[in-house]
Amino acid sequence: MDLQQYLTEAAAVEREAVAAFDAAPDAAALEAARIAFLGDRQGRVKALQESLKAIAKEDKPAAGKRFNEVRTRLESVHSARRSSLDHVTSAAVADLTLPARRQWRGAKHPVTLVIEEIEGIFRELGFTIALGPDAETEWYNFGALNFPPNHPALDAHDTLYLEGEGLLRTHTSPVQVRTLQTYAPPIRVLIPGYAYRRDFFDASHAPAFMQIEGLCVDEGISFVDLKSTLNLFAERFFGAARTRFRPSFFPFTEPSAEMDVQCGICGGGGCPACKGTGWIEILGSGMVHPSVLEAAGVDSERYTGWAFGMGPARIAISRYGIPDIRILYDSDVRFLEQIAE
Ligand code: DAH
Repeated sequence: MDLQQYLTEAAAVEREAVAAFDAAPDAAALEAARIAFLGDRQGRVKALQESLKAIAKEDKPAAGKRFNEVRTRLESVHSARRSSLDHVTSAAVADLTLPARRQWRGAKHPVTLVIEEIEGIFRELGFTIALGPDAETEWYNFGALNFPPNHPALDAHDTLYLEGEGLLRTHTSPVQVRTLQTYAPPIRVLIPGYAYRRDFFDASHAPAFMQIEGLCVDEGISFVDLKSTLNLFAERFFGAARTRFRPSFFPFTEPSAEMDVQCGICGGGGCPACKGTGWIEILGSGMVHPSVLEAAGVDSERYTGWAFGMGPARIAISRYGIPDIRILYDSDVRFLEQIAE
């Protein structure tokens, strides 16, 4: 075979193989074409390789070079065709009527739901949101809030002290002072945030927990404003027919009161949710102590105010009938999904 004949044959093999590969309608047809052209034993490319032996010595480099080109090109045309057929095949096999895979979209945590609902109620009454730092100074956490040094009220507020001056705030009340220092009355703010105590993690306590603080300071504010606002809140949030205020003590309020709402589950008759009392304790409150106003630089002769603090996790467990507060911190989606809205 002379060089010219060889080159003609190589061109024919190349042309026919490309046409066969491109025309193959499916994987089986492509495989048949592959065997016909690129097959190891009887393939046309193999034959082309065999005929190299018959080429005159001086023409061998040119013939060999052409052979390599043809083989390389056919291999790549074949593999390109195979991957495009793979694509077609899998689309054809996919069952488009199958139900879609379910997606986990995430949802709001029960405590977040409670906080947002409370914020919504107070927003309508003209309250805005205020925030403060979790790491506080002793003065903001205690001193400015009228805790005398060594007073027994401090016992309930044992916390983690940070290196240097700071401590983790034991309540959101220090943000009352920060707000009063920053803005002039009239002030109506709601202060959600974490508080920290040296408490054991048990069914009703967590060492880090959310609180919501409320503060209203203006001229002429009295206990009537406290009671009527909190009663309205209880009615809106709990649908509570009745509330009751019990005298209490906080260093930063005078007088102070705890507010209970009538248990919505038993209607006041007594059940496990209210521990048989018919009432659920929801917050501490009182008239802002004049020395707190003075510590924050507010004239206590001119201005008066009321405040409250509550634990939204406690409210969430009574609202959703959750037996153990730790469930709220477990991040177990099987539980969270039951409450997600
Ligand atoms: N700071 C109090 C606590 O964590 C809760 C509290 C009670 C806040 C009465 C108030 C209030 O603003 O008036 O125990």
